[in-house]
Amino acid sequence: MNTLQNDVYLRALMREPTERTPIWMMRQAGRYLPEYRELRQQAGDFMTLCKNPELACEVTLQPLRRFPLDAAILFSDILTIPDAMGLGLYFETGEGPKFERPVRDLAAINKLSVPDPEQELGYVMNAVRTIRRELKGEVPLIGFSGSPWTLATYMVEGGSTKNFSEVKKLMFAEPQAMHQLLDKLAQSVTSYLNAQIAAGAQAVMVFDTWGGVLSPRDYREFSLRYMQQIVDGLTRENDGRRVPVTLFTKNAGNALSEMAETGADALGVDWTTDLAEARTLVQDKVALQGNMDPSVLYASPARIEEEVAAILASYGKGNGHVFNLGHGIHPQVNPEHAKAFIEAVHKLSPAYHR
Ligand code: CP3
Repeated sequence: MNTLQNDVYLRALMREPTERTPIWMMRQAGRYLPEYRELRQQAGDFMTLCKNPELACEVTLQPLRRFPLDAAILFSDILTIPDAMGLGLYFETGEGPKFERPVRDLAAINKLSVPDPEQELGYVMNAVRTIRRELKGEVPLIGFSGSPWTLATYMVEGGSTKNFSEVKKLMFAEPQAMHQLLDKLAQSVTSYLNAQIAAGAQAVMVFDTWGGVLSPRDYREFSLRYMQQIVDGLTRENDGRRVPVTLFTKNAGNALSEMAETGADALGVDWTTDLAEARTLVQDKVALQGNMDPSVLYASPARIEEEVAAILASYGKGNGHVFNLGHGIHPQVNPEHAKAFIEAVHKLSPAYHR
């Protein structure tokens, strides 16, 4: 494999010294880029892009051609696992993801099998291998998955939801069935991420977008416990180098100290928690990733720079900060503002590493 030319992201995740704060953006490849929209229109739909390794590679590289980002992230989706389990994923324009066959009871849960990542999800592994080859060691490649809880919300609801009534009904009325589903998902995510690592992913991230809709006790029982199972099962080395794992639960600032005990290398933080406070909570056990509100990118470049300055000051001096948005970049953002954001991190962060 090619030697890595820019490893500032991996070093920050390991809380090693860096000359500046690395930056990448959640959903950095996607609809805010005109070149993505064009390719997506040619392909017809989103899953066609994901299932074609050359197209997935092209989309992964698009933001890197525009901006000096410190990592690439695999272009795919968290819903590939339920799709491989046979739920029939499809996207209705403007409505987000949907499943033809949602999972609502124990009988349906018992029928699910753990996908073989090199078979049903072989297209993802081929995309990882293609991207690694085309990146030529420029920056590291991040692999990812959804958390078991977050995947379960889509699988039980049959798509996106506002009040989580079906998934919470299953969780409270049939907790054992819910645990069976989550255990199968934790096994699936572990083997999926291990296969991404074997294929060349140099860091992995678990997206728990919906863990924050649970009470602290239910979060522990139905989300964190299964992320712990994943962290425990990951092969955290590739090519003689540590493969760091980042856990991100959106809207769960109060869970950060417990999350720091899982053995993960880093935690994602959204903008509802101040990084200074987050740093106190995790006590230097993990690196922190975040946490600008993606809506700030609607502001002027001067205002964006102010926000970057405030976030850097909030984390303060020292190692272990990966700059990012607190959630995915919005499709309406002007790419020039994303550029101003990234440049501000390059300009202002070296002062925090001297
Ligand atoms: O970060 C990246 O650039 C890598 C690609 C990536 C996508 N989805 C591409 C995508 C990643 C890391 C994801 C993760 C994902 N997918 C999450 C977790 C992170 C988060 O945003 O909370 C979730 C919850 C999903 C599920 C999902 N996929 C939803 C709810 C939607 C529709 C809503 C939306 O944003 O359009 C998708 C579709 C999707 N995934 C798109 C992209 C670029 C848009 C597809 C398109 O219309 O072109």
